[in-house]
Amino acid sequence: MKICCIGAGYVGGPTMAMIAHKCADHTVTVVDINQARIDAWNSDELPVYEPGLDEVVQAARGSNLFFSTDVDTAIREAEIIFISVNTPTKTYGVGAGCAADLRFIEKCARKIAEVSEGDKIVVEKSTLPVRTAESIKRILLANSEGRDFQILSNPEFLAEGTAIADLQNPDRVLVGGDQTPAGLAAIQKLVDVYAGWVPRERILTTNVWSSELSKLTANAFLAQRISSINAISALCEATEANVDEVANAIGTDSRIGPKFLKSSVGFGGSCFQKDILNLVYLCRHFGLPEVADYWQGVITMNDYQKHRFARRVVSTLFNTVSDKKIAVLGFAFKKDTNDTRESAAIYICRDLIEEQAKLAIYDPKVSEAQIRQDLKVTEENPYVTICEDAYAATKDAHAVLILTEWDEFKALDFKKIYDQMQLPAFLFDGRNLLDLEQLAAIGFEARGIGQG
Ligand code: NAD
Ligand code: UGA
Repeated sequence: MKICCIGAGYVGGPTMAMIAHKCADHTVTVVDINQARIDAWNSDELPVYEPGLDEVVQAARGSNLFFSTDVDTAIREAEIIFISVNTPTKTYGVGAGCAADLRFIEKCARKIAEVSEGDKIVVEKSTLPVRTAESIKRILLANSEGRDFQILSNPEFLAEGTAIADLQNPDRVLVGGDQTPAGLAAIQKLVDVYAGWVPRERILTTNVWSSELSKLTANAFLAQRISSINAISALCEATEANVDEVANAIGTDSRIGPKFLKSSVGFGGSCFQKDILNLVYLCRHFGLPEVADYWQGVITMNDYQKHRFARRVVSTLFNTVSDKKIAVLGFAFKKDTNDTRESAAIYICRDLIEEQAKLAIYDPKVSEAQIRQDLKVTEENPYVTICEDAYAATKDAHAVLILTEWDEFKALDFKKIYDQMQLPAFLFDGRNLLDLEQLAAIGFEARGIGQG
């Protein structure tokens, strides 16, 4: 069978590479309008950094996995077409700052209608508002001229940094479609693809609306857990409770479970905020303001956590950071990725620049150009320096902030860092990564999130 995927991004590239790698009898072509991205997928420098991705791509590329900008041919030849284009938050018009921008999705639907010659199964891989399949179907059917189009929803649950492991061994694969004979047959076709390596009992099938809504709900629940534990972290700081101890105590209850209870400077990444805003917008659209407000609270708490961290730094440093050097260790939104989209570090750095702190930033994987772009500062800006390593960043600093949980920060020589800092030497561990008692023994005034 021939499979096509429109959109060669973080999701389209790795997911299709895994299908091709696991299903040798299917031919998978990933297409994109971005020539540079396609060139990178065809080179040794893939456009996405993910542990294990190079091996999977190399195993299949050129035999049953292809990357191309020839969108029309790939659509025409394929039986199944995945749509995996970006669905960012709308920045203009009605719903700006909240609704999902579906113009790329609509372009794909119109392109499929224009170039298809036979029946197609169209699969929503992008994260979409519930009932988007209806719009796609209307566009396709209005242009069908005797062809049949089945629309399936097959959201992706992979996380960045663990994409390959998540794809190889998913908790579940979700396929939603029409509950008609033709719809059920289309569902079965896609289920058969995944059954090439995923145990059948982990492939869930639902109606199309449940599937679309499950993706937004999964991200909302995950983000809600982080906001919940972060809310408790503020109370811990006021009461001498320790948030990691609280998380452990509640997480051992099997009904709550231990995952996603790590208190932090706040969640970042390209999707949690975007998807919750999308959910909030949908709830308002369907006349459910109380439900919208409930989920909006998850974002409000996340914003509070980011600003609260910056405020705590300022107040601890005797209420002024003006002209003080502050070392920022970590800028990515989580470890093992160079992605900075919506990273909490961006907001914390901006707050501190506002207070005229002089930031010395180091991240093992994020480039200087990316950091400057995110902070909107040029090389001439006296308030931001990008450093080669953690030791350069911390030299003569008044405080060290840990903003990403990179493993290499655990192995730093903190005695050496302490000896080259201004005194008192403050350390704020925004990821509860380090042993605060050991740091205190060296001489640091060390604080974590949700403790002391
Ligand atoms: P991305 O921005 O990395 O990639 C999207 C690609 O689509 C781009 O390369 C763009 O050029 C291409 N594109 C846009 N319009 C096109 C068109 N008309 N024809 C051909 N190509 C087109 O986005 P992503 O991170 O891969 O996310 C894709 C979707 O998957 C989003 O809806 C996102 O919410 C969802 N998702 C993302 C993740 C993640 O970890 N990044 C995880 C799960 C789900
Ligand atoms: C998240 C989900 O985990 C994926 O299932 C989903 O497919 C994806 O969004 C998506 O739809 O894009 P991702 O954003 O890549 O994946 O990374 P996560 O591991 O979920 O981390 C998100 C943010 O939450 C990071 O900033 C991380 O540091 C933070 N986090 C995570 C915490 O602060 N505490 C935790 O306990 C866990």
